[in-house]
Amino acid sequence: MDKSGNVGYNKTKTKTGEFMDAIRIENCTFTYEGDTLPAVDHVSLTVREGEFVAILGHNGSGKSSLAKLMNALETPDEGTVTVAGMRTDETDKLWQIRAEAGMVFQNPDNQIVAAIVEDDVAFGPENIGVKPAEIRRRVDEALAAVGMSAYAKHAPHTLSGGQKQRVAIAGILALQSRIIILDEPTAMLDPLGRREVLDTIRRLNRDDGITIVLITHFMEEAALADRVFVMEDARLVAEGTPREVFADRDMLRRTGLTPPNPVRLRNCLTDEGLALPADAFTDEEVIEEICRSL
Ligand SMILES: Nc1ncnc2c1ncn2[C@@H]1O[C@H](COP(=O)(O)OP(=O)(O)OP(=O)(O)O)[C@@H](O)[C@H]1O
Ligand SMILES: [Mg+2]
Repeated sequence: MDKSGNVGYNKTKTKTGEFMDAIRIENCTFTYEGDTLPAVDHVSLTVREGEFVAILGHNGSGKSSLAKLMNALETPDEGTVTVAGMRTDETDKLWQIRAEAGMVFQNPDNQIVAAIVEDDVAFGPENIGVKPAEIRRRVDEALAAVGMSAYAKHAPHTLSGGQKQRVAIAGILALQSRIIILDEPTAMLDPLGRREVLDTIRRLNRDDGITIVLITHFMEEAALADRVFVMEDARLVAEGTPREVFADRDMLRRTGLTPPNPVRLRNCLTDEGLALPADAFTDEEVIEEICRSL
């Protein structure tokens, strides 16, 4: 369901008349060459069109490997990955899949290829032979969508980390991708940069219906998603709304995840004997419940 309570995803019908999910991972297992243990072990999950999902999990739990499967950077040894109706093991679809699902990585400096911001955003469409006038239109639109129009002629190395990540996102938008997969995009940013990137992806999701897959170590970021997936030792061990996932204290303890601050406060007070509902989740809710129970 979208935020207004409508079924806003799954709108596109495939040729066979089925409704399409943005990303469908079915019983996937993947082991890196030379490794003995799989990085992804029998994982199934679906990301619906227009959804904002977050993937959580301890270091080495398989999050980035899962992201690589979603973007056809790797293909599973077992199971199938389908992106916008295209299976990632169909090698002739590789570029179409990567254009449909763009990736943003942790280090903003590793993703910028040109010496001027607008040239960087134009790089993707130029590579696939988009006509110059259309490139101009897409670059302007993409920079506007991430709030970076004023920096079009700037040199990327003069930008902040958050601004660089927004340029990277603009580069994906210029390819007209409908899915953006972000692997810890805010890990190297200061609080302001984190805010900028988060606001940008939320706006793209809400206003333009872009599907977002956000891998993060920050629980406060995951709390903003429609649904959260938790990885542990290459397996998917929990999924649900942030409210549901952060209410599962046993799972959080087992996977070594610290819930967002309001949930921690609620848990502490509950342990001290204050009877608070197990799913109070936001600052406001927790404060209200505390006041009520006093
Ligand atoms: N290129 C690689 N070659 C071999 N093994 C790898 C490679 N990349 C990851 N692995 C292994 O796969 C497992 C999952 O790693 P992955 O990077 O997917 O985890 P992660 O959840 O993204 O971790 P982090 O939070 O540190 O980014 C780990 O055991 C890791 O050592
Ligand atoms: Mg990773």
